[in-house]
Amino acid sequence: MPLRVTVIGTGYLGVTHAACLAEFGLDVLGLDVDAGKIASLASGAVPFHEPGLADLLSRHVATGRLRFTTSFAEAGEFGDVHYLCVGTPQRWNGLGADLRYLEDAVESLAPHLRVQCLVVGKSTVPVGTAERLAARLSAHAPANGDVELAWNPEFLREGKAVADTLRPDRIVVGVRSEIAEKVLREVHAAQIDDGIPFIVTDVATAELVKVAANAFLATKVSFMNAMADLCEETGADVAALQDAIGRDGRIGPRYLHAGLGFGGGCLPKDIRALMAQADELGVSQAAAFLREVDGINMSRRTRMVALARETCGGTVLGRRIAVLGAAFKPDSDDVRDSPALSVAAQLQLQGATVSVYDPVARANAERAFPSLHYSGSAVEAAEGAHAVMHLTEWEEFRQLDPAGLDGVVARKFILDGRNALDPDRWRRAGWTYRGLGRPLTADRSPTSNATSTA
Ligand code: UGA
Repeated sequence: MPLRVTVIGTGYLGVTHAACLAEFGLDVLGLDVDAGKIASLASGAVPFHEPGLADLLSRHVATGRLRFTTSFAEAGEFGDVHYLCVGTPQRWNGLGADLRYLEDAVESLAPHLRVQCLVVGKSTVPVGTAERLAARLSAHAPANGDVELAWNPEFLREGKAVADTLRPDRIVVGVRSEIAEKVLREVHAAQIDDGIPFIVTDVATAELVKVAANAFLATKVSFMNAMADLCEETGADVAALQDAIGRDGRIGPRYLHAGLGFGGGCLPKDIRALMAQADELGVSQAAAFLREVDGINMSRRTRMVALARETCGGTVLGRRIAVLGAAFKPDSDDVRDSPALSVAAQLQLQGATVSVYDPVARANAERAFPSLHYSGSAVEAAEGAHAVMHLTEWEEFRQLDPAGLDGVVARKFILDGRNALDPDRWRRAGWTYRGLGRPLTADRSPTSNATSTA
């Protein structure tokens, strides 16, 4: 009989995890306290944009292998394994992680755990959280001694969530017993058979692996962005630099893409939570470098605004600016801590008339920044623009024909905040192209084959 699994929390992580477990042949029950979300998922509709997920979900809802509920009693009754996938956002009043949703989930689930089962945390948490949650579980679960807690961090990227979950680089499980390891090996049997590394650690290490991975990725991006600043001052080209250093096997080419920096619901809050935890533990110096990483990242946004001012002759007051992109990254409609929207809002506050276009994130952007103006296409956003700013690297924008904007814009200035457009193509069409850390003129454009590295 296949394992019966519950997935508590149906955001990007939870829905993707639930649908992929169903794909592996397990019986899955997804739970959320948001009844609207559950109704939508139960009808096979994904309430956010994630390529490939709607197909997977509707397929497994149709077979009955994937169901949804709002009842913790039903979840407790159903599951051999319970995954905790709720959000752990930044606290409103500090840098640390807000663990309220996780604590609420454990509190709500525990009284319904009457038979032997494994509770598995997947949310990103400060080290030591699992220990505390385990104590709560044994205090409140009727089957206390038979309920165990393990940690299994998730490394999926939004926009690539399904592929990352089905074929991750590695699976990490932090366990306290051989039984827990055995259960998790059974959950991941198909992936282990496929040769995906299965790394078994203690629980604290598993919690830290996730935080450390995100902190390292953030550091890589900020390192390259710091180099971009040096490039601008020296006339060097960060795209060629990225290509050249990325070819060193010890460095690697991925996640070295300089530009407007990182945003989203994960990297920014995770490095801050790590700083907060280091402070609490009295080892602030261990994470002090992350303040620089965060600072460099945030300064990309002000740099971009400064570039817009420069392009507009010292002020953006009364200027029309087209912003291409609102999502924090392409292939997602997530606008949490979106660098693009942050820049758009700052420009508006400085007196510019800003028009934003994003292929899928408009509704979320409108909710987050209702005072910005939104357009239905790149061309519409560009009408009368004194500068066009490319701030989220959707494929649609890479394909944009500069000649198609002739007679649409007021001036042919393109500011590429993602260093993802082809400078030669835009310059050939008569545009002034500016990237971040890229040369001002065409004569030093690289001949490298550097590509996207996310
Ligand atoms: C990130 C991690 O990559 C995942 O491994 C992790 O599971 C996830 O956080 C999480 O903690 O849940 P995600 O935030 O979805 O995933 O997106 P990324 O692809 O990592 O991009 C994050 C930001 O970094 C984006 O704003 C992107 O534009 C920026 N970025 C990425 C760069 O500026 N340069 C790069 O080279 C790569």
